[in-house]
Amino acid sequence: MTTTPLTSVPWRPLLVVTGISVGVTTLIAALTASKGWTVHSPAWGVLAIVAMWAPALARDRYNRREEHEMRIHPALIAAILFGCLEGGVMAQSGHSQGQPGHMDHRFDDPERYAKSFDDPARDSWQMPARVIDALKLPEDASVADIGAGTGYFSVRVAQAVPRGTVFAVDVEPKMLEYIRKRAAGAGLRNVVTVSGDSVGPRLPKRVDVALVVDTYHHIPDRPAYFRGLTKVLTSSGRVAIIDFRKDSPEGPPPEFRFEAAQIIEEMTRAGYHLEVAHQFLPRQHFLVFRPDGR
Ligand SMILES: C[S@@+](CC[C@H](N)C(=O)[O-])C[C@H]1O[C@@H](n2cnc3c(N)ncnc32)[C@H](O)[C@@H]1O
Repeated sequence: MTTTPLTSVPWRPLLVVTGISVGVTTLIAALTASKGWTVHSPAWGVLAIVAMWAPALARDRYNRREEHEMRIHPALIAAILFGCLEGGVMAQSGHSQGQPGHMDHRFDDPERYAKSFDDPARDSWQMPARVIDALKLPEDASVADIGAGTGYFSVRVAQAVPRGTVFAVDVEPKMLEYIRKRAAGAGLRNVVTVSGDSVGPRLPKRVDVALVVDTYHHIPDRPAYFRGLTKVLTSSGRVAIIDFRKDSPEGPPPEFRFEAAQIIEEMTRAGYHLEVAHQFLPRQHFLVFRPDGR
C-alpha cells in the first residue's frame, strides 16, 4: 500500500482554495443572517473540502507531485461547491455545532394560524388569565408581547392594563395587520403593533414586562437578543418566557423544546437571573427573569 508523504501535499493551492471557501461560506452566512437565519462557522465548509479532497490526494502518487500541484482536480471543484453549499445550508438550518438551535418557520398566514393559536380548547392548558395574574401587572404597565402571533395574549393583556400599553411585536407583517384589526374590533386602543426582527423587538419605548410565548425557540441568537432587550426594560423590568416542555403532547419538533436549564443558562449569559419558575402550566415552562443588578 502506498502512502502520500506530507511533502507531496500541495499545501499552497490547498490553503488558497480553503481561503476562498471560507470567504464564500462567510458571505453566505452573513447574507442569510441578514434574513434572520443564524450565522454558523464556515469551518464546516473547510472540513467538507478536506474530507472530499483527501481521497484524491491519497490517490496521487508523490512522483506526480508537480502535475498535481498545477492541476485543478475535479474533486477539488466538487469540494468547493459542496463546502459552499454546506456553509449555506448550515447557516440556514441553524443546527450547526456550537450554536444554539432555533426553529426557522414562517407564520405568514394569520387566518390559518388563528385556527390553532386561538382555538378555544387552548385556554384549558394555556391558562391565559392565570398567566396574566401571575405577572402582577399594574393597570398602567407597558408590556411587550414578543412574537405576538394573532394576538392571543396581546388582547388579553391589553384588557388587564387599561391605562397601560401593549406592544404587540412580530416579524410577520400579516400578523401585525391581523392584530391591528383584532384590537380595533375589540375596541382596544392600547395595543400598538411593532415590527421586530431577529436581532431585537425594535420597541419604541421601555417596557415593564416582555412576554415571550412560544416564540423563544424561534429566535436565532438568543443571548444577544435578550442582552439587547435589557436596554428597553424599565428599572423594574422583567422578561417572562413561556415555551414548550419536552413532554408536551403538542408543540414544535422535539429539538426545539428546551429544558428549563437551557433557557436559564442562555438567559444567564444574556445578563439575567431567574426570579421565579411558575409550575402551573401543564405543557410549558413559565420562567420570569430580571436583568442582573436590578
Ligand atoms: C408560535 S407563534 C406564537 C404566537 C403567540 N405568542 C401565541 O402564543 O399565540 C410564534 C410567533 O413569533 C413570531 N416570531 C418569530 N420570530 C420572531 C422574532 N424574532 N421576533 C418577533 N416575533 C417573532 C412568529 O412570526 C409567530 O407569529
